[in-house]
Amino acid sequence: MKIFLDTANVEEIKEGVSWGAVDGVTTNPTLISKELKGGLTFKELVTTILKIVDGPVSLEVTGLNHEEMVREARILKSLGENVVVKIPTTVEGLKAIKILNKEKINTNATLVFSLSQALLVAKAGATYVSPFVGRLDDIGEDGMNLIQDIREMYDNFGFETEIIVASIRHPVHVRQAALIGADIATMPFEVFKKLISHPKTDEGLKRFLDDWSKIDPSKLKL
Ligand code: E4P
Repeated sequence: MKIFLDTANVEEIKEGVSWGAVDGVTTNPTLISKELKGGLTFKELVTTILKIVDGPVSLEVTGLNHEEMVREARILKSLGENVVVKIPTTVEGLKAIKILNKEKINTNATLVFSLSQALLVAKAGATYVSPFVGRLDDIGEDGMNLIQDIREMYDNFGFETEIIVASIRHPVHVRQAALIGADIATMPFEVFKKLISHPKTDEGLKRFLDDWSKIDPSKLKL
């Protein structure tokens, strides 16, 4: 399973990439707005991210009709080869995805909350689909059930749209995504960090080093 970072924070992205386990990045207008507090422009921020990440970077359009979405998508795509254009899952979004698919501009259908939405965006030619599991959990549904259903449906019919499990809140979501066979999990840096830590690893390492420090150094010359 590929791992994407769901952030527009340059330091987090640099750090994650240095760990060798980040395959891409997803952003959204909320995440971008958090990073544009200083003098930085959207273009400066995005071009920096695009250079750091050797993989797809999702950037979202904000237009509501398909003509605006397509116009924004073409501009976003001109910023870098690895740009994926995030399109909201609406009727206008479907029209935009269809046009962008013909133009070979990769799309990520965002804000997906149902199987029928996942079906339609795949039929329209979306490169990626982003079901939001955490936000479904928030309203008393089981977000991971939707991932399971989309996986089964895409496999039934051979859809090539890749499933990005989005709105991930904790490592259990990541584990479930991997076991279901989702293509990608996109997560905040805080969740990504938790994937590597384990108290038994820290405890074990401490014990090894404590025992090592008790050895007479003269015995350790190589
Ligand atoms: C997906 O690409 C979105 O950016 C993201 O996962 C939304 O997550 P949230 O529900 O934590 O805001």
